[in-house]
Amino acid sequence: MEEKVGQLAQIAGVPYESEQSEITGPVAEMGIPRKLLPIAGSVLGVSGAETVKRIQDNYLKENRLGIPLIFMVDVIHGFKTIFPIPLAIGASWDTDLAEESARIAAKEAAVSGVHVTFSPMVDLVRDPRWGRVMETTGEDKYLNERFAESFVRGYQNNNDYSDPYAIAACVKHFAGYGAPEGGRDYNTVDMSERQLREHYLSGYKAGIDEGAELVMTSFNTVDGIPATANKWLLDDVLRKEWGFDGVIITDWASLGETIPHGVAANEKEAAQKGIDATVDMEMMTFTYSNHLEELVEEGSVDEEQVDQAVLRILKLKNKLGLFENPYRTASVSDEGSIVFSEENRQKALEVAENSMVLLKNEQNTLPLVPNEEKIALIGPFGTDENLLGAWSWRGEPNTASQVLESMRKVVNEDNLLYSKGSNIEEITTEQLEEAVQTAEKADTIVLALGEHWEMSGEAASRTNIKLPDAQLQLIKRLSELKKPIVTVLFNGRPLDLNGIEEYSDAILEAWFPGTEGGEAVTNILFGKANPSGKLPMSFPENVGQVPIYYNRFNTGRPYESAPNDKYVSKYLDSSNYPKYDFGYGLSYSDFELSPVQLSKNEMTPGDEITASVTVTNKGERAGKEVVQLYIRDLVGEVVRPLKELKGFKKIHLEAGESEEVTFTVTEDMLRYYHPDQTFRSDAGEFEVFINNSSHTSHTETIVLTNK
Ligand code: IFM
Repeated sequence: MEEKVGQLAQIAGVPYESEQSEITGPVAEMGIPRKLLPIAGSVLGVSGAETVKRIQDNYLKENRLGIPLIFMVDVIHGFKTIFPIPLAIGASWDTDLAEESARIAAKEAAVSGVHVTFSPMVDLVRDPRWGRVMETTGEDKYLNERFAESFVRGYQNNNDYSDPYAIAACVKHFAGYGAPEGGRDYNTVDMSERQLREHYLSGYKAGIDEGAELVMTSFNTVDGIPATANKWLLDDVLRKEWGFDGVIITDWASLGETIPHGVAANEKEAAQKGIDATVDMEMMTFTYSNHLEELVEEGSVDEEQVDQAVLRILKLKNKLGLFENPYRTASVSDEGSIVFSEENRQKALEVAENSMVLLKNEQNTLPLVPNEEKIALIGPFGTDENLLGAWSWRGEPNTASQVLESMRKVVNEDNLLYSKGSNIEEITTEQLEEAVQTAEKADTIVLALGEHWEMSGEAASRTNIKLPDAQLQLIKRLSELKKPIVTVLFNGRPLDLNGIEEYSDAILEAWFPGTEGGEAVTNILFGKANPSGKLPMSFPENVGQVPIYYNRFNTGRPYESAPNDKYVSKYLDSSNYPKYDFGYGLSYSDFELSPVQLSKNEMTPGDEITASVTVTNKGERAGKEVVQLYIRDLVGEVVRPLKELKGFKKIHLEAGESEEVTFTVTEDMLRYYHPDQTFRSDAGEFEVFINNSSHTSHTETIVLTNK
């Protein structure tokens, strides 16, 4: 029994190999029981072929049954070749690229001894104050589902573990972690079951249906019960309803945290609740190790419950071939040729170029023409700042391409001036004066501004989502020079752009773009690459509007019906609308979409209607456009959103080229959760529109009949 319970424990690498470990949770009271070291089931946060092999060897010398350790790590947006943050990958609206990025991350991780990644994170989020928004693909369930599938496919190579480079994926954080009250990390989540099922659960389900081997529980409560000990959520929904038979692992210490949550009086109760909820592996608290044996002996836990949990973990180890080869793909020589290879970096560049969003471009300020004018690059992100973003553990910020260095390859010395202007959160009079003097000598100012990488990510929520005052001061002062200003933003969340927007002629949202960030920015600024990203989350006008998202409900008193009335749903001091819509993003090309053509107007269940538009590139450059299908259910048994994304296609068009884009509308796309929680459609009318953002355009109506 002690050995079985040992398999259920995951411990940080510290006691095995301290310098190699990544600590991603509270360490003060690690309290790892020594007896666990030769029998623990898994280690987290360790990588490197040599290190992993050494730990495995030492462990197997001590482990009576010869059951190998399984190594799990947070490979979130790349291993050492760092791709843009997941929010940025979401902005690419390119699920093939997402899959390729995960494939490369898996390959680099696999040769470095990793068996499982704690990714993808598919938590739907509507609140940019939450720091972990950078790890998501945004506010929409459909987009989230498609990316969840792509990431899982990429890591697990279509569940083909004969591929040595496939690693197992862990969908997280189950469930609803992206909806904490007030956007404060780890805070309470409370929503109706319908809301949870309709919007929040579907991303996890998509990843699981694609074959994800593990699910990680979340820190938050779901209907008053912490997710990690929530039997309804884990056993009834995840296991029984969805048929998930893989490994459920807790988040760092989240089983022990049921005690401060106040649903377990002590560790023993926490262990009871965890095993009753069918949690298999406990990460970094030791309630199972300390109490499961006792609980079985006294009959409070059936031994079969423990056996099932152990079996699920052993099956995963077996699937990955660890019993045949406990090192799996770990190889020092392959690390040398595969990790951070030129080929992988090229893909990171392509993903970065595809994920940046051109938010504004007055008078075609962009693209810039190299050496046609003098450019002053100013701002803390011009050089030396971390462009990788949070969760880039093995990434080395100083190996990432920087904006100044990349621009120097395109623009000659006389035409490119640089001044730091400010630090991220502080500015001195000298810095400001120097920036003004530099800008005075130039024709165009390129400002590289942003959030420090630690201002988003885990435990990095903010109530103020503007850029720090120092940078607002910098742009305001430079705007007095009346020169064109191009602002490039490096950040991990949708921002309140007041204080930036009004002074910028062009704005490029670069996010945290990863290893090839500087190069990608330069390619876009100078037109070598044409921006094609679209926002996966609305940018609010101000933080007071948050949460603000495109697929909201109409109210009984819609503002649009009587904008001048007092008693309509509105703010006194702000509009109801975001600054930049979900799905929005400009291009250097000029895409025109024809009105929607429907194949017919009526359909029955089992039938289908096609909806098509012709997209024409009226611009002078080749470019990519994201064509988006939205549907609105006009009358339901419950209130239905004003529009919902139901399909998208990213197409490439040469200058002057046209292409017809067709979507097929079927009855299952019209289903929703009814008051009795059944997922079905209602006969009736539906509005359909196709556009290059979520901004409602000309709509067509279709009718679903019962016969
Ligand atoms: O995977 C992470 C999780 O997202 C947050 N807590 C720690 C885990 C392991 O590092």
